[in-house]
Amino acid sequence: MSGPIVVVGAGQAGFQAAVSLRETGFAGPLTIVGDEPGLPYQRPPLSKAYLLASPDDPDTVTLRPQAFFERHTLKVVHDPAVAIDRPRSRVRLRSGRAIPYAHLVLAVGARARKLPVPGSDLDRVLTLRTRAEADVLRGLLREGIRVVVIGGGFIGMEVAAAARKAGAHAIVIETLDRVMARVVSPETSAHVEAVHADQGTAIVLGRSVTALHGVAGTVSEVELDDGRRIPADVVVVGIGVVPNTELAQCAGLEVGDGIVVDEQLLTADPRISAIGDCASYPSKHAGSRARLESVQNAVDHAHHVATRLTGAPSQAYAQVPWFWTHQFGMRIQTAGIGRADDLRVLHGDPTEGKFSVCRYQGDRLVAVESVNRTGDHIGARKVLAGAQHPTPHQVTQPGFTFKAFAAQTATAAR
Ligand code: FAD
Ligand code: APR
Repeated sequence: MSGPIVVVGAGQAGFQAAVSLRETGFAGPLTIVGDEPGLPYQRPPLSKAYLLASPDDPDTVTLRPQAFFERHTLKVVHDPAVAIDRPRSRVRLRSGRAIPYAHLVLAVGARARKLPVPGSDLDRVLTLRTRAEADVLRGLLREGIRVVVIGGGFIGMEVAAAARKAGAHAIVIETLDRVMARVVSPETSAHVEAVHADQGTAIVLGRSVTALHGVAGTVSEVELDDGRRIPADVVVVGIGVVPNTELAQCAGLEVGDGIVVDEQLLTADPRISAIGDCASYPSKHAGSRARLESVQNAVDHAHHVATRLTGAPSQAYAQVPWFWTHQFGMRIQTAGIGRADDLRVLHGDPTEGKFSVCRYQGDRLVAVESVNRTGDHIGARKVLAGAQHPTPHQVTQPGFTFKAFAAQTATAAR
């Protein structure tokens, strides 16, 4: 393809799509359309180290400096896309400008879900998706303040950990009966809850928030469905994300929980792909359609689309999904996709703070989540990418390692 290619969304996936297109030899016009100020940046540090750093510290979130974009003739346009004119193959921007495309990559990501209760528009009720929002939270975090986190998912638990490290009080309110239940097993949730409790995070499970109350427009209390009122100086809402599907939907493309694409990450329009947090794709690893929210997913999707557009023979997208979160001294890494009814087999010892939960559907390994066992995680990614998996019995044998198993099966396959 000689272009032009337009990428809408200057986040992790959009940036990577542009870089991978240049790396795989696309030399035509390439425009990234963004709606946030500045150069593309990574989000993971925003709920971790960034919150504890000083604004004067070196910038660790910007993905590449301006010179990189110039060197690779990557144009970043700060002007949100408002419509896709499919008959004329153009993207219309808020300014009224229209950019023609031979191929359009939608990498529009997701936005933080709003808390639908009275008072959620008070000052110091924050969500955490963008660098600008992280700057606001960082400016408020300090010793002794009371941070109430609504949602015990990844963002909530990471923010609680950062708040504790800053010497603030942290209370997490989670509607379900355990934290991070969307992705991790009950064993990992229990471990995370115990480590947090040890570090002074209070966790309230099985309760929801009915209202936020304020004084002079600023939040002061969080009311729960049992009538309790929890004092708050800052409230951080981390109750999941909503994919940005509106642009695709208005252009007549199919959307559901995400923009619907096939195993090549193409929409029903062969000139439009969708990647990253906004894309719902058929996942071999999920055994169904999936919309994943991770850096790995954004980067691997981007690379897949770039490879396809530059003409390399392309197989169905089938990368092993993986994810990480850091909280206090815990490095939690997941590979594969677990399901609620998985058989779970422990590898290692949770009481030592180092273990993996191997998740099975029958005899088939579907996911491995590791706490402070990076070797397991790296090995498990290799194993999950291959055809042969260790049985539940094998992973409990003394001396078993995923790395050795992967090496052994790779040799046997040669
Ligand atoms: P995004 O990064 O959301 O980028 C989409 C971009 O498109 C945004 O800039 C958006 O504003 C823009 N956009 C939307 N609509 C338009 C439009 N109409 N016109 C122009 N631009 C538009 N993942 C991990 O794997 N590990 C982690 O530890 C981890 N930590 C995280 C911590 C935080 C605080 C957050 C918010 C996310 C974290 N993630 C983590 C998730 C990871 O950052 C996302 O999965 C990843 O950013 C998805 O990339 P994306 O490009 O698909 O979407
Ligand atoms: N009150 C309390 N908890 C709630 C409510 C509510 N009204 N609604 C949802 N929750 C809980 C969910 O049960 C879940 O445990 O909020 C949590 C949200 O967790 P995630 O889905 O992991 O979302 P979040 O933590 O906001 O993270 C958003 O950031 O780290 C990245 O990639 C990660 O995509 C994820 C994104």
